[in-house]
Amino acid sequence: MTTNTGEAMQPLIAGNWKMHGLASRLGEIEAVSVSIRARPIYADVLICPPATLLARAVQAAAGSIAIGGQDCDCESTGAFTGDISAEMLKDTGACAVIVGHSERRQRHGETDAMVAAKVTAAWRAGLLAIVCIGESEAQRLAGKALTVCGDQIAGSLPAVMASSAVAIGYEPLWAIGSGSMPSPEEITQMHQHIRQCLVAHWGAAGKLVRILYGGSVKPSNAREILALPEVGGALVGGESLEAMDFETICRSVPPA
Ligand code: PGA
Repeated sequence: MTTNTGEAMQPLIAGNWKMHGLASRLGEIEAVSVSIRARPIYADVLICPPATLLARAVQAAAGSIAIGGQDCDCESTGAFTGDISAEMLKDTGACAVIVGHSERRQRHGETDAMVAAKVTAAWRAGLLAIVCIGESEAQRLAGKALTVCGDQIAGSLPAVMASSAVAIGYEPLWAIGSGSMPSPEEITQMHQHIRQCLVAHWGAAGKLVRILYGGSVKPSNAREILALPEVGGALVGGESLEAMDFETICRSVPPA
């Protein structure tokens, strides 16, 4: 997976399985992996299954898909029952982690500062951090979407870019799992705003960070979304669970 600076980066298509998937679903990962080996894809492909499946998912992916976690603790080790460190994710063979997903911000009270600490932990372990931000429907209706997301960027990213292994996932909360999504113009406006915020935060290095769109991405809309300016990939929930749908989304990235 391309995570470093300098070279032109391919779009990143990341599947987030959330709390779905028993061992019987590993065949979906294997199917995507076999297909990618048979016919190349113009994107980096990542699947983030539940932590219980990570090690077996790495085997099923056979090196042609990257595997990542859905969250990590900010500490590397200690008396923290039930938590999983970035180093532990790395130890399974994972190479990335989603941090600050709105479901964790809402259900587990994760704050911007906690998310920033998790980004630092991901870098410490050598993982790509995918940092999720996004506004609620009420915030969008109140005309505050850009400000809310700008504030989340400022608060959820470490002040110093200690590693270029980072991507942003812009996921409007009201678009997640709902079938609704912003218009192409609204997605473009937000992604351009996020780019400006990244440059304000990290200087020129902020120009190289991939900004993924997430929220109701599916095979029928992926091509249009992925062609929008400043959209560097997609974060896919429900439609990443079935190999055929996820692969169609991955194949919606045109050759560079
Ligand atoms: P969705 O979820 O694709 O099912 O809308 C996206 C996400 O929450 O990452």
